[in-house]
Amino acid sequence: LQQKTPMEHAIQYFDMFPNEQDPIWKNPCDHDKHMEIWSPNKTCDKWPKLLVIGPQKTGTTALHTFLSMHPLVTSNMNNKQSFEELQFFSGNNYYNGIDWYLDYFPKLNNASVEMLFEKSAGYFDSSRVPKRVHALLPNVRLICILISPAKRAYSWYQHMKAHEDPVALNYSFYDVITALDTAPRQVKSLRDRCLNPGIYSYHIENWLDYFSSRQIYIIDGDILKDKPVEVMDRVQRFLGLKNFDYGQVLRYDSKKGFYCQIMSDKKNKCLGGSKGRQYPPMDPKSEEYLSQFYRKHNIALSHLLDKINVRLPNWLEEELNSGK
Ligand code: A3P
Repeated sequence: LQQKTPMEHAIQYFDMFPNEQDPIWKNPCDHDKHMEIWSPNKTCDKWPKLLVIGPQKTGTTALHTFLSMHPLVTSNMNNKQSFEELQFFSGNNYYNGIDWYLDYFPKLNNASVEMLFEKSAGYFDSSRVPKRVHALLPNVRLICILISPAKRAYSWYQHMKAHEDPVALNYSFYDVITALDTAPRQVKSLRDRCLNPGIYSYHIENWLDYFSSRQIYIIDGDILKDKPVEVMDRVQRFLGLKNFDYGQVLRYDSKKGFYCQIMSDKKNKCLGGSKGRQYPPMDPKSEEYLSQFYRKHNIALSHLLDKINVRLPNWLEEELNSGK
């Protein structure tokens, strides 16, 4: 028998089974044998029960903040690079393994009543995420927020502009969203980040390939913005949480133009300046282009939501009725 080092064995193995090169982490807590070989100081009480999956620019930070105000709900600790977002299932952090992921979650005092959650807004439209999440957390609850995809695209462009992205600074929104495939790579990349997450039906179908519709809660982002107390009541019912009265902790801040956390009689704590930015309204040409671009995807979304018994968001009804 030929003597080989573990590395040589591994190379030979992956030459024979190349499609196994990309690992899929399963949950060691589901199998006694796996528990035996997993590090002894690990616990099965630290898995998140809820993922807020995005998409970006729909109000995910507000939802993260509101959820964290609930006395029985706790989110992960911050990551140095991506702050509150762990981006575990979507990017290279996945290859750090599940111990890396779990180390970001605190140990709870009473795991049976408390709930850990994670918010990474890029999960929604990343094609490999649903499979990875399902392999590790098959019973997890998922929340996504939908706003008009045109507004979402514009908000992302404004976000990139505020971060001094050279493409957003040098190209108008219209030029970005209408860029052809012959355009420079960076322009196409911004175009895709503006447009693709808003093809909601396509991404939700990907999640439904792995999860039951009962595990997914869809929030109308306009209502989250205008009536967060109402939305948080419904979210708590979906999660089976002991009701917490958000009316006591949130109030409208006329200066910010959004709901904020009540700190005292006169003082509110609002989300930072990068959330709820002031920018000029979208130009009519871009509005028209996007209403054409998203029309068939919005129709597909309405059929999908009907099929899974989810009430259509108001913005979707309006866009469909106005022929947008
Ligand atoms: P704009 O800055 O374009 O207005 P995300 O956190 O997913 O990046 O979403 C940011 C968006 O959340 C903001 O986009 C804003 O419209 C929306 N939002 C909803 N509720 C908010 C709140 N209470 N405070 C600030 N922004 C809120």
